[in-house]
Amino acid sequence: MSEERALLDFRLDGKVALVTGASSGLGYACALALAEAGADVAVAGRSLDRLAGVCQAIEARGRQAYPVVADVRDVAQIRRMVDQVSDRFGRIDILVNSAGLNIPQPALEVTEDAWDTIMDTNAKGLFFCCQAAGRYMVAQRSGRIVNIGSTMGLVGMADRAAYCASKGAVSQLTKVLAIEWAPYNVTVNAVAPTFVETPLTRPYFERIPGFREEVLCRIPLGRLGTPEEVAAAVVFLASDAAAMITGVTLPVDGGWTAW
Ligand SMILES: NC(=O)c1ccc[n+]([C@@H]2O[C@H](COP(=O)([O-])OP(=O)(O)OC[C@H]3O[C@@H](n4cnc5c(N)ncnc54)[C@H](OP(=O)(O)O)[C@@H]3O)[C@@H](O)[C@H]2O)c1
Repeated sequence: MSEERALLDFRLDGKVALVTGASSGLGYACALALAEAGADVAVAGRSLDRLAGVCQAIEARGRQAYPVVADVRDVAQIRRMVDQVSDRFGRIDILVNSAGLNIPQPALEVTEDAWDTIMDTNAKGLFFCCQAAGRYMVAQRSGRIVNIGSTMGLVGMADRAAYCASKGAVSQLTKVLAIEWAPYNVTVNAVAPTFVETPLTRPYFERIPGFREEVLCRIPLGRLGTPEEVAAAVVFLASDAAAMITGVTLPVDGGWTAW
C-alpha cells in the first residue's frame, strides 16, 4: 500500500464530463453530482430549452456547463455532439449515457415502431455515443464511460420485452467495450438502478393500481431508489477510485437482484 495515500481519489476536479439525457431524471442528477465532485459538464438532450435548468444548477455549483442538442437515435447527431464537446473543452474524460425511454406493452402487443424506438434510443444510441466519445478517449489514452442500464437488464418483468432486451444489451456491450478499450486506460461500466421516481416512471406509479406494491415487494430495502443514489454510483465509477473496475454492471437496486 502507498505510504502517502490510503484513500484513492473520488473527486473529479479538472475533468470534463458529457451526460446524455441530462435534461431530466437520473441524467440531471448525474450531471449535478459530477459538477459537485469538481467536473465541468456538457449536458445533452433534444431541446436546448429543456437543458437550461441543469446548466444553471451546474453553474451554481461553480462549474462550467455546456448544453448540446442531439437526438441519440441519429448517429450523425451523436458524432456532432461529441465533436462539439471536444471543441469546447479540448477533451472528454467522462461519458455518462442516461438518455433512454420505455414504452410498456404486453409482448403480444409490441409494435414494430415501439420496438425500434426503444432499441434505437437505449441500445443503438448508447452504443454510438460510446463509440464517438471512445474515439477521443482511446486517442487521449484515458477515459471513463458509465452507462445507465437497469435492473430490467438483469431480470425480466412483464410488459417490458423491448426494454429488458435493450438494457440487457447495455450490460453486454459494456463488457465488450471494457475489453476492447482496457489497453487504452478507458474503463466502461454500467449501473443498474431499480425503480426511481422520475418523469419516466411516475406515470406507472400514478396510473397502474398496485404497481408500487408490486415493485416494493421485490426490493429487500423496501423503498424506491433516489436519483442521487444512482448518481453517487456513477461518480464513483467515473473517479480514479474505480480505476481497477471495468466491464461491470453495478446494481443500485436495494437488493432486488440478490434474490
Ligand atoms: N427512472 C427509473 O426508475 C430508471 C430505472 C432504471 C434505469 N433507468 C434508466 O435511466 C435513464 C434515464 O431515465 P429517467 O428515469 O431519468 O427518465 P427521464 O426523466 O424521462 O429522462 C430521460 C432523458 O432521456 C432523454 N432522451 C430520451 N430520448 C432521447 C433521444 N432520442 N435523444 C436524446 N435524449 C433523449 C430525455 O431528454 P429530452 O426529452 O430533453 O430530449 C431525458 O433527458 C434511462 O436510460 C432509463 O432507462 C431509469
